[in-house]
Amino acid sequence: MTGPVIRPRRLRATPALRRLISETRVHPADLVLPMFVREGASEPQPIGSMPGVVQHSLDSLRAALVEAAEAGIGGVMLFGVPSTRDAIGSGATDPDGILNVATRLAAAEVGDALVVQTDLCLDEFTDHGHCGVLAADGSVDNDATLERYAQMAIVQAESGSQLLGLSGMMDGQTAVVRAALDASGHSGTAVLAYSAKYATALYGPFRDAVESALVGDRRTYQLDPANRREGVREAELDIDEGADIVMVKPASLYLDVLSDVAAMSPVPVWAYQVSGEYSMIEAAAAQGWIDRERAVLESLVAIRRAGADVVLSYWAVEAARWLARR
Ligand code: PBG
Repeated sequence: MTGPVIRPRRLRATPALRRLISETRVHPADLVLPMFVREGASEPQPIGSMPGVVQHSLDSLRAALVEAAEAGIGGVMLFGVPSTRDAIGSGATDPDGILNVATRLAAAEVGDALVVQTDLCLDEFTDHGHCGVLAADGSVDNDATLERYAQMAIVQAESGSQLLGLSGMMDGQTAVVRAALDASGHSGTAVLAYSAKYATALYGPFRDAVESALVGDRRTYQLDPANRREGVREAELDIDEGADIVMVKPASLYLDVLSDVAAMSPVPVWAYQVSGEYSMIEAAAAQGWIDRERAVLESLVAIRRAGADVVLSYWAVEAARWLARR
């Protein structure tokens, strides 16, 4: 009997060979940490559905930012948890609102080492929990919301955010925000368009993290999980409207969309490994059913392999430390 001539196992034989042959690498600089900051908090508050993630106080935020910079990650994405909410999300455009205060702190503290980014959306700030303002019939009013986003963009840029994460899924938001920034002397502030953002069950723990009191759901503005082409279409529109970076979100269940967008995009493509992706692995690992470190690193390499240049992940700092020791 003659054995096989082609033996792919040859290149898998030793750790050194496997390392050399590896097609995809995750580097700490490819990771961005989403962080929550709670208005009025004197101590960090744990988030029940996201073990290991907290709502920061300003003091704990400062310490965590220094740790993130030391771990060598690429940046942070800030989310505010305001102490009061109203119909139009006034806290989002108040320069003394928690997100803008946290942004000034982050820019001053670690602005040279990390790219300081902010979530540009109204859902954390509205009492109804939607990403925009409501029309008289209760629907989310696209064009009225765009005006609020334009105001938010200017306040966030003035607070020191270098990259605005447009996550509201209103039509035309990238163009409106770009124009507002340019008209207010912020042509150097970049826009990260959450282009293909799906209406997923995986944002569940995030709602807990920002204490959103959402009534209803987001299916009239976020994409239907069944639609692949539409994800590419949204990325195309955002690129035409001037997005500096486009994103696919969630990541793990949408790797096909990510791969499609990566194939067509002339701008960097990022992916957001969302709260539910985090909590599912944490929960299984806590039961002892999967190896936590292996599962986390595998999830990150899979997202990079599908085409993401950068991954937003709640494990960013911990994963960066694991990667540094390899
Ligand atoms: C909108 C926003 C959401 C997330 C990021 N930005 C929530 C939503 O659209 O419902 C979810 C992130 C996560 O689940 O980790 N402000």
